[in-house]
Amino acid sequence: MVRKIHLALFAQGVGVAQSVWRSPRTTPESMHSLGHWKSLAQTAERGFFDAFFIADALNLSPAIATDATDRPDPIAVLSALSAVTEHIGLIGTSSTTYNDPFTVARQFATLDHLSNGRAGWNIVTTAIPAAAANYGSAKLPDHEDRYARGEEFVDVVRALWDGWDADAIIADRETGQWTDARRIHRIDHSGKHFDVAGPLTIPRSPQGRLPLAQAGSSPTGMKLGARVADLIFTTQHDMTEAKTFADRVRSLAQSAGRPADAVKILPGVTPIIAETDDDARDLAAELGSLIDEHTTLKFLGQAFGDIDLSHYDLDEPFPDILESLPRNAGMSRPTLFTEIALREQLTVRQLAQRIGLSIGHRTLVGSPDTVADDLARWFDSGAADGFIILPADLPVGLNEFVDEVVPRLQKRGLLRTEYAGRTLRDHIDEP
Ligand SMILES: Cc1cc2nc3c(=O)[nH]c(=O)nc-3n(C[C@H](O)[C@H](O)[C@H](O)COP(=O)(O)O)c2cc1C
Repeated sequence: MVRKIHLALFAQGVGVAQSVWRSPRTTPESMHSLGHWKSLAQTAERGFFDAFFIADALNLSPAIATDATDRPDPIAVLSALSAVTEHIGLIGTSSTTYNDPFTVARQFATLDHLSNGRAGWNIVTTAIPAAAANYGSAKLPDHEDRYARGEEFVDVVRALWDGWDADAIIADRETGQWTDARRIHRIDHSGKHFDVAGPLTIPRSPQGRLPLAQAGSSPTGMKLGARVADLIFTTQHDMTEAKTFADRVRSLAQSAGRPADAVKILPGVTPIIAETDDDARDLAAELGSLIDEHTTLKFLGQAFGDIDLSHYDLDEPFPDILESLPRNAGMSRPTLFTEIALREQLTVRQLAQRIGLSIGHRTLVGSPDTVADDLARWFDSGAADGFIILPADLPVGLNEFVDEVVPRLQKRGLLRTEYAGRTLRDHIDEP
């Protein structure tokens, strides 16, 4: 059987391009309505995506004055979407630093019931220090401490999901017995970070152990992902480096006792599509003209651990400040941005332009054929098992991808033409 591309949609507001709410291609006035989310999810389903993904952050972006970067609660939105979609998986981010495992296990198990087996959890440890102040805590824990808690957190969640046997509900109207209590198990977890008795308050959900996504690409993040995740979301710009990353994750998965292909690796891509390559370049320039470097510096400052970069001279080379990053900052994104700036000798302004359309992901600018060719090339090389698509603008950027690129991938036999399975797990496990 021919391997197929796995697609997930990163659905954020009216798109990930900075200040794209100003573009006539978007209607930000309706971006908080159910209708907006519903039409995006249904379009992604029409494009046979494995999953619709909602990212999350737990603090208001410092760029909010000029950029529409507010964050609704993913679980609430996905619950609503479960009622208006049939096949597509519904993945939401939930932080292991500012939650407790019982709550997260319960929320996602409920979503899995509501969606008849389509829920998935994106594990993040929260990399933005400003979130701490919203949770009564003075300081975001250091990187390694966050991951140590995250590892235990995931194990507790999975134990809770396993607490109810699949046949625990008896529902015998004659005898009045609803459940067999012997088939509902406490977990009695006692660890460094958590003490949780269990069992969960709802029965085993259709998928039981839900598919997990993981998006931290630091060495510690990769280790967690390789041990527990079914999907890895990552930012990669170069196919050879992406292949090295993917091989590393696959080999870490094997070291953790899993088959190498148990983990599907999905690098992010922001496609900018128009009828011809030239038209697509014009569109990229049009969207790029909305980028304001000062706003991007706020975004970058946050990615670097909430530091102030506003005093930077836009026309000076972007400096290497990796050595002085706060210890609780995320690692992979500052490293990636610095590497790009140094390798290509970019000024601050040029770096802002480079990452402003795609929150730092790879932009793929071209005709539908160009975009399909490129995705097929990455996929065939083994650098990717699929892609997380981050449209620059929504809904138009997604419509173009689904109407123009999806049929081309299907024609090559690289994308499903119907959903063979019912659950998110089925979609991910499809070869
Ligand atoms: C496609 C993609 C989606 C992500 N979604 C989120 C998210 O929703 N919330 C979040 O806090 N971080 C998100 N991240 C960032 C990572 O999960 C992680 O927090 C960050 O890379 C820092 O971790 P690291 O130091 O291990 O790389 C995402 C990253 C990628 C590539």
